[in-house]
Amino acid sequence: MAKARSVFRCQDCGGTAPKWVGRCPTCEAWNTLVEERVVPAAGGADAGTLSPPAVPLPISEVDVDQWVVRPTGVGELDRVLGGGLVPGSVTLLGGEPGIGKSTLLLQAMAAVAAGGTTVLYVSAEESTQQVRMRAERLGTLTPSLYLASETALPHIIGFLDELSPELLVVDSIQTVFDPELGSAPGSVGQVRECAARLVGEAKRRGLATVLVGHVTKEGGLAGPRVLEHVVDTVLAFEGERHHALRLLRAVKHRFGPTDQLGLFEMTGDGMVGVPDPSRLFLADRRQGVSGSVVVPTIEGHRPLLVELQALVTPSSLPSPRRSAQGVDNGRLSLLIAVLAERSGLRLAEFDVYALAVGGVKVVEPGADLGLALALASALTGEAVPAGLVVCGEVGLGGELRQVSQSDRRLAEAARLGFHRAIVPRLAPDGDGSIELVRVETLAEAVAAAGLLPAGGSSPSPSVPAGRSVPSPDEPF
Ligand code: TYD
Ligand code: MG
Repeated sequence: MAKARSVFRCQDCGGTAPKWVGRCPTCEAWNTLVEERVVPAAGGADAGTLSPPAVPLPISEVDVDQWVVRPTGVGELDRVLGGGLVPGSVTLLGGEPGIGKSTLLLQAMAAVAAGGTTVLYVSAEESTQQVRMRAERLGTLTPSLYLASETALPHIIGFLDELSPELLVVDSIQTVFDPELGSAPGSVGQVRECAARLVGEAKRRGLATVLVGHVTKEGGLAGPRVLEHVVDTVLAFEGERHHALRLLRAVKHRFGPTDQLGLFEMTGDGMVGVPDPSRLFLADRRQGVSGSVVVPTIEGHRPLLVELQALVTPSSLPSPRRSAQGVDNGRLSLLIAVLAERSGLRLAEFDVYALAVGGVKVVEPGADLGLALALASALTGEAVPAGLVVCGEVGLGGELRQVSQSDRRLAEAARLGFHRAIVPRLAPDGDGSIELVRVETLAEAVAAAGLLPAGGSSPSPSVPAGRSVPSPDEPF
């Protein structure tokens, strides 16, 4: 009988140390090492699992027939996957609990099974009754879709021998364990080993496999980087829990692009693809309200119009509140500073709230100008004109820089009825479907949006009482 030895594995990054230390030598996290027993396979490492040696082939003779993409039938998922799932590939679907991973996969697997393909859905968290009830609610009961509620890896592999499915879902990889391993279920060692075994099975059988993974509060996959390395594709499923919108992206993809974005709405009937997200984001927008600016952003390859909102209120706090939702906190602070120093719009004594409407995250610098103008509008109490969009990156000198794919952003704005855009001076001409107002600096943009009298030296007459808005040319 082979002798067990111990390693200490970091529960954050999967790094190991030969003895217990307080701080992980790999990722420097504190108190994350957990002892794990390693039982070597009889006859030495991998003796029983070593496959026949690979034969080198001329590249043109490598057989790619099995690597044909097979659509799942869920359009937005296929878009992100670059067409569908590849036999023998392993995809990790990560997302926070409750975001809709199981719902999306059940719908996709039922769609695949409806075409006669045998699909095995291993639910390691919910009972088969629960999954069946969900499938009934979604109207996706299909005889070729097999369910098993199982957490033990050897049993799951046994099902593969019995059923020979073409597609396997394991929901979730964190709850699967192999009793042969010394470590506790859910530990990084278990998650990593079980994933590695399932990857081996997938490759050996040409079985397309989807593993569900939970993400931690910080947004990383629990049991994390180690999993990202062993799988072919990592999909991230995101969204605000209290909003219906869900975004699906490929973070890593060995079989296609990683820059596609899938959009879903969580409805009573499951995940529904969103063909026109801009319209959805702007549906509830109220015109003529201060602090609201529409920004054409690019997510993946898709132009999206998003409303950014800001609210400022006089603060009684020694260090006023800065609250950002869906926009970057650091970027918000930077823009507050640039507005003060380069445009004379001081927010130092105000609490500032900024958000992207609809539960979407807008982190690209191309949205800077929109956020800055939303702040300026909230401060002056002036609404930006209806029909206006803005895009541009703001530099620390208050200068505006061009953004990528300007044409596509502006075409999307024009499609949704916007007729004027404030853009950086050197932005491309576009197709003429929208009037361009070229400006060089943030101060010029503030004036062009009607938030201060152009070139004037007095504050806007409509500034609410109690708010002092210095003119752009007042000394800092
Ligand atoms: P679920 O797919 O279980 O999330 P995850 O697997 O990522 O943890 O979805 C959980 C939430 O989705 C739950 O709060 C109920 C909601 N939901 C709907 O709104 N509509 C539906 O059709 C379904 C099945 C779930
Ligand atoms: Mg689930």
